[in-house]
Amino acid sequence: MGRKFCVGGNWKMNGDKATITELAKVLTTGPLNADTEVVIGCPAPYLSLTRSLLPDTVNIAAQNCYKVAKGAFTGEISPAMLKDLNIGWVILGHSERRAIFGESDELIADKVVHALAEGLKVIACIGETLQEREAGQTEAVCFRQTKAIADKVKDWSNVVIAYEPVWAIGTGKTATPEQAQEVHAALRKWFTENVSADVAAAIRIQYGGSVTAANCRELAAKPDIDGFLVGGASLKPEFVQIVNARQ
Ligand code: PGA
Repeated sequence: MGRKFCVGGNWKMNGDKATITELAKVLTTGPLNADTEVVIGCPAPYLSLTRSLLPDTVNIAAQNCYKVAKGAFTGEISPAMLKDLNIGWVILGHSERRAIFGESDELIADKVVHALAEGLKVIACIGETLQEREAGQTEAVCFRQTKAIADKVKDWSNVVIAYEPVWAIGTGKTATPEQAQEVHAALRKWFTENVSADVAAAIRIQYGGSVTAANCRELAAKPDIDGFLVGGASLKPEFVQIVNARQ
C-alpha cells in the first residue's frame, strides 16, 4: 500500500473573489492532515488569486486544459499557461466535460498526455451513468475510459484516477462504500492485467460523487479508496473534515 491519501475539491463554475477569499481562510486555518495531498480545482479566472491565498501545501488545479501548447484555439487554456501561473495540477475528463461539452475518450487521453508532458499532475475522471450501471456496464465503461488513457500514457506516476459514478454526482446519492470499493478493486485489477502490477499498486484512485463530512470516513476506510474528488461539499467548511477523513 503506502499510497498517499489525496483529496481534491472541485469548485466547478462556482465562487467569486469574496467567497473564494473566505473559503481560503477556512482552508488555511484547517488544520489539514499533512499526510493527505490536497488539490483544489478552481475556475480558471481565479487560479492566480486562489494560488496567492493558499499555503504551498495546498495544490491548485485547473478544471480543464487543451491538448496543445498554444495557438488558434479561442477560449482554451494550455498546460504551459498553467505552469506559468504556478498551477501544478489539472482535472481532466470530468463527466460534465464529457456530457455537456462532448469530450471524447480520445480527446481526454490526448489532453492527459500533453498535460503530463508539460509537467502537470492530472486527476483523470471516469465513471458510468445510471443507465450504464443498470445495464450492467459499469466495469466495461470504466475500463474503456481508462484504456483510452492507458493506450497513450506510459508513466502513471503523476496521474490520479477519480472514479465518479455520474449518478452520484451532485445528487446526494453517494455510492455505498461497498459499491465504490468494488469498482476501485476492479480498476486496480485492470491495471495489474493491462499496465503493470507496480502501477496497479501505486496508482491512487479517488472516489467522487456526493462525498460529505458525514459519509467520508466510511468510504475512506475501504482499502482501494485513496481519496476523494469533492464537488458541492468542497465549497463548504466541511471540506476540512473530508480532507481529514483518514486521520
Ligand atoms: P459532488 O461532485 O461532490 O457535488 O457530487 C463531485 C464531482 O463532480 O467531482
